Amino acid sequence: MAIGSLMLAEQQSALLRGALTSGFLAHLARESTVKGVAAATQLAPDRVQDLCLALSAAGVLESDSPGQYRLSTTYAPLLQHGADKQFANLLAGTAVRARLLERMFTPEAGGNYQDLTGADRLALAASVTLAPSTPLAMAAMSQVAQSITPWQEMLNAGDVRYLELGCGVSGAMLTMLQLHPRLTAVGIDLAGDLIDRARAEAVALGVADRVRFGHGDAATFSDPEPFDAVFWSQYFFPAGSRALTLANAYERLRSGGLLVTPVLHAGPADPVHPLNVALYQSWGIPVLTTEELCTELEEAGFAAPTACPGPVTPFVVARRP
Ligand SMILES: C[S@@+](CC[C@H](N)C(=O)[O-])C[C@H]1O[C@@H](n2cnc3c(N)ncnc32)[C@H](O)[C@@H]1O
Repeated sequence: MAIGSLMLAEQQSALLRGALTSGFLAHLARESTVKGVAAATQLAPDRVQDLCLALSAAGVLESDSPGQYRLSTTYAPLLQHGADKQFANLLAGTAVRARLLERMFTPEAGGNYQDLTGADRLALAASVTLAPSTPLAMAAMSQVAQSITPWQEMLNAGDVRYLELGCGVSGAMLTMLQLHPRLTAVGIDLAGDLIDRARAEAVALGVADRVRFGHGDAATFSDPEPFDAVFWSQYFFPAGSRALTLANAYERLRSGGLLVTPVLHAGPADPVHPLNVALYQSWGIPVLTTEELCTELEEAGFAAPTACPGPVTPFVVARRP
């Protein structure tokens, strides 16, 4: 029955999330005994055996001999290039989305994204960005830059001043700062806890001297120097805040500067699309198609908005005339 598959998927994804975030899975990168994993994790051997069996049934582990397990070929990439961090974040964000979707059948659900608990907001923010300390993030960010030709050209040309409106935990921006030593950046967000986290990560990654964070409204942030590029995290901006934010993005850019923004709309045939619509619209945020986003940018005065496919999410890029 269909509901059986849903029940199984929910439990297996919780199992994988726990195995990743606890570090349990890392002990199974190579063939390991139940006893060895128990010693490394300080879990009872019987529990380790039960968890290994459950993970094997989910296809995560495989075993050739009793009491010995290793990551399956399908899941082996999970422990390469820092993918475990990235996928732990994705699964944690999915768990928060699941809880929020469940609550949407009550009249009081929704409202303001900023009113989520700090833990939920952090999990969602980390799940829509890159884990910036990982080689996976570096490779993904290089691909993103390559897919947005004018952005890649700007990075190749030399010094770039970059502003991110709605920077959250700033995974993408911190990754770019590591990749491009001639990039300097400013990140603005309404959520002070996310900014604190981004600031600490900038220090840990050794890029704090080239980035500044501001806690406040993207619509009113001001700076005496113009920026070469503005990234707008549009799918976290409610309808009422968009025109003023875009007007400020325009104001902050130099003539010829780039506005880059991601597209959340997955296409009507993708089953995740109506879930995004239900969730984001409960926060008053429209889920716009690429065409609608281009129109919004044109109405704000930006020139030649163009869609770029991007390796995971598409982007729209436009210029201040
Ligand atoms: C989750 S982040 C997007 C991820 C980000 N691009 C990254 O790579 O980490 C989007 C952020 O936009 C912020 N936001 C929404 N409206 C805002 C506004 N008017 N001013 C400043 N930040 C805003 C939200 O608080 C949220 O943290």
